[in-house]
Amino acid sequence: MGTYYVTTPIYYVNSKPHIGSAYTTILADTLARYHRLIGDDTLFLTGTDEHGVNIMRTAEKLGKHPKEFCDEVSAVFRKVFDTYNISYDRFIRTTDEDHEKVVQHVFKTMYEKGDIYKGEYRGFYCPKCETFYSPDELVDGKYCPIHGIEVEEVAEETYFFKWSKYQDALIKWYEEKKAIVPESRYNEIYTFVKNGLKDVSVTRITVPWGITVPIDPKHTVYVWFDALINYITGAGYPFDMDKFNKYWPHVRHILGKDILRHHAAMWPAMLMSLGIEPPHKLIVHGWWMMGGKKMSKSGGNIADPLELVKEVSQVAGISEPFAVDVIRYFVIIDGPQKDDKEFSMELLFKRYNSDLVNDYGNLIYRIVGFAKKKGISEVSPVFDGEYKDKLVDIFNDYFDRYRKAFDEDDSAEALRQASEFVKALNKYVDETKPWSAEPDVRDTIIYYVLDGIRLASLMLMPFIPTVATHVLELIGASEAGDWLDALQVGKLPRPVSIPVDMKPLFPRVDVNKYLKEIEKAEKKEEKKKEEKKVEENKVDIIEYDDFAKIDLRVGKIVEADKHPNADKLLLLKVDLGEGQPRTILAGIAAWYKPEELVGKEIIVVANLKPRKMRGIFSEGMLLAATDSSGKPVLLTPSEYVEPGAKVK
Ligand code: MSP
Repeated sequence: MGTYYVTTPIYYVNSKPHIGSAYTTILADTLARYHRLIGDDTLFLTGTDEHGVNIMRTAEKLGKHPKEFCDEVSAVFRKVFDTYNISYDRFIRTTDEDHEKVVQHVFKTMYEKGDIYKGEYRGFYCPKCETFYSPDELVDGKYCPIHGIEVEEVAEETYFFKWSKYQDALIKWYEEKKAIVPESRYNEIYTFVKNGLKDVSVTRITVPWGITVPIDPKHTVYVWFDALINYITGAGYPFDMDKFNKYWPHVRHILGKDILRHHAAMWPAMLMSLGIEPPHKLIVHGWWMMGGKKMSKSGGNIADPLELVKEVSQVAGISEPFAVDVIRYFVIIDGPQKDDKEFSMELLFKRYNSDLVNDYGNLIYRIVGFAKKKGISEVSPVFDGEYKDKLVDIFNDYFDRYRKAFDEDDSAEALRQASEFVKALNKYVDETKPWSAEPDVRDTIIYYVLDGIRLASLMLMPFIPTVATHVLELIGASEAGDWLDALQVGKLPRPVSIPVDMKPLFPRVDVNKYLKEIEKAEKKEEKKKEEKKVEENKVDIIEYDDFAKIDLRVGKIVEADKHPNADKLLLLKVDLGEGQPRTILAGIAAWYKPEELVGKEIIVVANLKPRKMRGIFSEGMLLAATDSSGKPVLLTPSEYVEPGAKVK
C-alpha cells in the first residue's frame, strides 16, 4: 500500500466555475479515485482562493462585504464539485482560520530566517491574475500578457521575498528531479529561471482584504503567497507534522499553464526557504477554448457546468448523474492535457456516440439482447480454455498499459486504454461468433463477454463512477471487494443472471439534428434581442409644455461621500447657485469613487419633489447616460458654466 497526495489549484471566487475550471478538478479526482481503488492512503485537496484586490473590488461593486461574497461563490464551487462527484477530502478556503494561522507562521519563519525583508516596490500589477510584471513583460508596454487588460502602476512600501537567492537551487532541482511535466513546460520554466529571478513583493499596504502580516499589521500578505501555502495547510503543516510527513513527499500539483511560474518557480523556492522538499510532481495542462478563445468569465464564453449537466441529460435522455459521467468522460479523453482544446457540444456528443453509445453501451445491450433472444436467463462458463485465454491475453495487455499510465499520473492515457479494451471486447464478440456456436460454447462466450464488461467497468470506475457501478450491479458483480484482486479474468460470480429487462444505457444522439435545433434557437434569440433593442430605442413623443415643466440646471459637486446606510448610493452636496448646496443621492457608488467626483459639473433635475432614500432626503436627480456595460456615465457641460445655469 502506497501513499498519494493530489491537489488542484484553488479557484478565484471572482468568477463562477466554468467547465475549464471544473476540468482540473475532474482530472485530479480520477487520480485520487484510482489510488484509493488500488489501496493507497490518499489525500485529495481542492478549494477556493478568496483574498486579493480583484475579489475585494468585485465584492465592492456588488455592494457586498468580501467575506459574504466569498461565502456565496465558494458555495457555488462546492455545489459544482459535489454534482460532479468530486471525491475531495478537504475543500479548503483561504479564509479558513487554520490556513490564516499557517500563512502567518510561514511568513514569520521566513522573515526570521532573513528571506523576507522590507523595501519599496515600483512596477506594474495585473489585478486579474494578481501578478507583478516588469515593463519588458508587458504587451505594448502597458497590457497584461495573460489578460490583455491595462496593468496598474504600483509604488508602495512592501516586504520582499528573496526569490533570487534560490535561483541556483531551483535550477539544480529542475535538473535532478525533472518534476515538471510535460517537457515543454519544464523547458519554459527552466529558461525563465535561468534568465534570472528578481525578488518578489509578498505584501500589500493598499489591499485590506488579505491576511494580516504578523510582524507589521498595516500590510496584508500577497494573495499568491497566501494561496500557495494552502497545499501545506491541507496536509497538516506545521501543526500535525505526522500527517504532513506522511503525505507531502507524494504530492502532485495539477495546474493550468497560466500559473506555471507561481507553482514551478515561486512555490518551490518558498518551500526551500522553509526547509521543505519541493513538490514531487507538477502536472501542467493547457486550456479549454471556445471559439478560439480561452474559456473564462471575462471572455464571455463561459460554459456553466451545472447547465451543461442539464443539457446533456435532456438531449441524450439520460439521468443527470449519468450526464455527469458523460461529461467527465469527454473532458478527460478529449481534454487539453497537453495542448489547448476546443470545447463544443458537437465534440462532446460525437465522443458520447462513439465510445459510450456504440462501444460500451452497445456491447452490454448486444450480449444481453442475444442471450434474451436465445431464452437464456443464466449462464456459467461450461469450460475454461481458448475463450478464457483469449480474454486473458486481451485484458492483460490493456490493463498493463492502463496501470503504467496511472503510474505516470496520466489519466487520459489510462482512459484511452480502458476505452480501447471495450473496443477489443466488441471485436471478441465478432470473432468468437456466439450466434453460430453450440450451446456450451455459446454460454461460455456469453459469460466471458460479461466478465469482460465487468473488467472494463472496473477500469472505468475512476472516470465514470456512477455508470460503472450501475453496470456492475446489473451483471451481479457489485461486490467488487478488493478492486485490484477483482481485476482478473473469470471473477464474475457464477452463474450470472442475465439482466433481460435492461434498457439501452445510452440512447444515441442525432448530432446533426441537435446542431440544427441549436442554430434555430440561437437565431430566434438573436431576433428577439433585436426586437427588444428597437423597442427600447423607440422614442415616446411628448408635448413641448411637458418638457418645459422640467427644470434642468448645471450643478457643481462640492462634497461627495458614501451613503451611511446604502452601499449603492453616494451622498452628494451640489451647488446650484442657491447659496446653500443641495443634498442629492445617486445610485452610482459601484462606478464612481466619491473623491473623483468633487469639483465636477453635472446636470441636475432641479424641480423634482424631494424623496427620502434610506433615511435621507434627495433634493434632485442627476442625469447620466448608460453605456453598454450598464455603467451610468455622468452628463457634464463641455465647458465651465456657472452653477445654477439653466439647461434648455
Ligand atoms: N487562484 C489561482 C490559483 C492559486 S493555486 C495556489 C488561480 N485561479 S483561477 O481560478 O484563475 O484558475 C484556476 C485553474 O483553472 C488554473 O489551473 C487555470 O489554468 C484553470 N483554468 C481556468 N480557465 C481554464 C480553461 N479555460 N481551461 C482549462 N483550465 C482553466 O489561478
